[in-house]
Amino acid sequence: MLKEKVLKILAENRGECLSGQSIAAACGVSRNAVWKAVNALQKEGVGIVSLKNKGYALSENALLESDITLPENTRFFLYNSVDSTNNEAKRLLAKGIKENAVIIANEQTAGRGRLGRDFYSPKDTGLYFSYLFHPNKSLSDTVFITTAAAVSVVRAIEKISTLKPEIKWVNDVYLGGRKICGILTEAISDFESGVAQSVIVGIGINVNTADFPESIEKTAASLNDKSITRPKIAQALADEIIKVAHDLSAPDILEDYRAHSLVLGKKITYIKNGETFTAIADSIGDKGELIVKTPTGDHQTLSSGEISVRL
Ligand code: BTN
Repeated sequence: MLKEKVLKILAENRGECLSGQSIAAACGVSRNAVWKAVNALQKEGVGIVSLKNKGYALSENALLESDITLPENTRFFLYNSVDSTNNEAKRLLAKGIKENAVIIANEQTAGRGRLGRDFYSPKDTGLYFSYLFHPNKSLSDTVFITTAAAVSVVRAIEKISTLKPEIKWVNDVYLGGRKICGILTEAISDFESGVAQSVIVGIGINVNTADFPESIEKTAASLNDKSITRPKIAQALADEIIKVAHDLSAPDILEDYRAHSLVLGKKITYIKNGETFTAIADSIGDKGELIVKTPTGDHQTLSSGEISVRL
């Protein structure tokens, strides 16, 4: 089909402007046919820029199915717009998907965060990514994925850039003191047996979002790095999350987590059972729990479900 041919040529010359004439000649069709094919691709949400009197270019940030290589047992679903990639993973489960899956959307219309919050997910400027897998292990052996997922994000960023991201317990990723990534992990488990049959790790990274809503404009930021494009971070993240998800007991996950911690040694406040406490973040335990030293010198262990931490 002409659309696929045009996209292939643009993808082979990503970021470069190609004249309609040269694409038409390469495909053996008229310039008008190329124009129509580009229009149709743009309507599908493919990030092709039309430059007047110059031609067409595929944006460096446009994510194509062909950009991502996954292991054989892992399916890839790429959407232009969905409510939430985590919801999409649940719909795939309801349809009976047995394989693992990476689900990415260019935009989320109802992106969800932890503690019932929204996750701002504007079109084409962030990576909205869910990894679905089926551990079939006890929930207690699986919850460490929340810690490991943050490690996969910092590893992915460091693999393709010189940025120095940090992890704010439990699994928000920060850059220069602002949040650039949030993670929402959900499990489908059997209450009787305590087995997590399937797990959905939802990761949202602000890649180059410029404007944030007022409620988060002082606390959120983007990677904004010239060496990071959406296809590059998507591939790096897929590689890293798949690696950690299937080897949660690898000792270097905790080592990397501790080395990237933004909270260790700092004064934090946390809310437990409606009451606010102040303490020093002392260490990260072997299950990813935060151990704090209270003003009276006692140590207390905080687990992710029950508290939210402020620096
Ligand atoms: C948080 O910051 O509280 C967690 C945000 C998690 C956002 C990601 S984006 C992909 C996936 N789909 C969602 O609806 N949420 C997660």
